[in-house]
Amino acid sequence: MKQKKLLYTGKAKSVYRTDVKGKLIVEFRDDITAFDGGKKDTLKNKGCYNAGVSAFFFSCLEKNGVKTHFLEMLDEKRMVVRELSMIPLEVIVRNLAAGSIVRNYPFKEGTPLKPPVIVIDYKDDSRHDPMLNDDLIIALRLATPAELKRIKTIALRVNTILSNMLAQQGITLVDFKMEFGWQGKTIYLGDEISMDSMRLWDKKTGESLDKDVYRFNKGDVMATYNRVAARITKVPGAAKKAVRVPKKTRKQAR
Ligand code: ATP
Ligand code: TYD
Repeated sequence: MKQKKLLYTGKAKSVYRTDVKGKLIVEFRDDITAFDGGKKDTLKNKGCYNAGVSAFFFSCLEKNGVKTHFLEMLDEKRMVVRELSMIPLEVIVRNLAAGSIVRNYPFKEGTPLKPPVIVIDYKDDSRHDPMLNDDLIIALRLATPAELKRIKTIALRVNTILSNMLAQQGITLVDFKMEFGWQGKTIYLGDEISMDSMRLWDKKTGESLDKDVYRFNKGDVMATYNRVAARITKVPGAAKKAVRVPKKTRKQAR
């Protein structure tokens, strides 16, 4: 597969056309940002960790019947994906209260949310990603009621699969963000699922194992990403070097 024209450069990833119709290459760069781009850095190997963990999660989700955009890894930072027409929604599932809902509502940090709370933001940096509700999503024609119901059902299914998987590694999935898109008449889970888009706490110590380490200067971000990537993917030797996606999960048979 040949990488062609750059389609889009976001805050942490670049998206390229390929010589194959309907397939794109997503490159996970080493850039990290927080607070609406207010804090920015470039951290060596960060792209490899997020790409490796995303590929691992997407593969596991596919095995559990969730349709994702992931097709294969080209190398440690570049993922071949289905080209989606992205729905500009940030679908966040929350299992424990943390982050913006603690800042904005009277939740005590760490309070379990049962059933999990789904929060959907409008993906528009110029408007600072305002929170939506079902009526707004429908009025803005971002999704029909049936599509919204489907998106929420998939989001909760992904939450159950990932929460259970992470629990086995002694990690609590506090909250995470998903993006969805269309290819033809099918909704796929797109973008990434990585330490940048999740809040993960060590079950025993409560230690942050995600981008909060960067947001709040809690320690060495790369050391944390390295350790957590190794723990999540359980790749031998991953704690020493960048995560490689295990051969088994490199190529999805489709
Ligand atoms: P944010 O950090 O708020 O998510 P961003 O646009 O800066 O925004 P990046 O992750 O750097 O985010 O950029 C990746 C872009 O590629 C996003 O706009 C995302 O919606 C888009 N994207 C992800 N997966 C696909 C796909 N399969 N097809 C088309 N576009 C995709
Ligand atoms: P949230 O608590 O709303 O925001 P903040 O991280 O600023 O406190 O975030 C909830 C989860 O969703 C968290 O794991 C990070 C993820 N997320 C993203 O990956 N991108 C986003 O644009 C937003 C708003 C959240």
